[in-house]
Amino acid sequence: MSNDPVVAIVGVTGAVGAEFIATMDKRGFRVGKLKALASARSAGKTVSFRGQSVVIEELTERSFDGVDIALFSAGGSISRKFAPIAVKAGAVVVDNSSAFRMDPNVPLVIPEINARRIRDHKGIIANPNCAAITALVPLWPIHQKNRIKRVIISTYQAASGAGAAAMEELVESTRANLNGQVYTPKVMPHPYAFNLFNHNTAIDPETGYNDEETKVIKETRKIFEDEKIAVGVTCVRVPVLRAHCEAITFECEKPISEDQVRAIMAQAPGVKVVDDRAKNYFPMPIDASGQDDVLVGRIRKDLSDPTGHSISMFVAADQLLKGAALNAVQIAELLPQ
Ligand code: HSE
Repeated sequence: MSNDPVVAIVGVTGAVGAEFIATMDKRGFRVGKLKALASARSAGKTVSFRGQSVVIEELTERSFDGVDIALFSAGGSISRKFAPIAVKAGAVVVDNSSAFRMDPNVPLVIPEINARRIRDHKGIIANPNCAAITALVPLWPIHQKNRIKRVIISTYQAASGAGAAAMEELVESTRANLNGQVYTPKVMPHPYAFNLFNHNTAIDPETGYNDEETKVIKETRKIFEDEKIAVGVTCVRVPVLRAHCEAITFECEKPISEDQVRAIMAQAPGVKVVDDRAKNYFPMPIDASGQDDVLVGRIRKDLSDPTGHSISMFVAADQLLKGAALNAVQIAELLPQ
């Protein structure tokens, strides 16, 4: 690409779509022309990009003519239908759905970990699941120094991961409950205000795992290129607006100390250490919201492992930024210009 690229955003009216625009703007990502694509319902409305009003167009099979980079965040079925059309039209697609993540021909990329997988890749590049990104950014530099054999992750996932409508439901149902009104959930499977529940994806009746948990396991192995890493996950939706937290315990091949992990985290790209025992100040979603880094703290020995091979920690990251839009824009920045 010699001129500034024509960039299409598919799903521009969604929570991640809005963050694609804000993130490109914030990072000074060069854009020759922005195409804002959404369903017919939103066509004709406008979004603002760098002070210009961009009219939203209906997503059709002709939408990608002349497009160099297409950022998709509109759900798996839209990606499955339109990403191959975009590629055929000559675009590189960065897809935020799970449609292509496990396709062996599709790189699954977290730039801090495996930017090399992009190289001159043409076609589709998959953006990982936000719960996977949040755990793997801090785990990767540890894994490189002292292989992680086994990791157990418990997530506390925010409303934004289920989309803009879920964020609205959290606010509306909280207001309704406070006013003593009955609120019937429209998006979430259970009452959301003052509650938490199993992640809202389907449960495999045989294994008892939900889809989100399965994604974290498979994506960890693909991104780390380590089929042997043992991953245990419990994914839970909590009434927080836009940043995911995770309690993570990992066991390394060789002994590892708290200080070693602190030293690795202090140098880790994409990580900010928030670990103040004196003030009882550790990663919180309210601090992670709007931040690019994964906050890491509560770094401590796992007392269930007397051999000294295991560490526990707590992390928080903005699900819409590093968990979605920021990671995708970082991928786009690595594409040949
Ligand atoms: N699957 C995530 C969630 C969102 O439900 O929170 C995006 O990866």
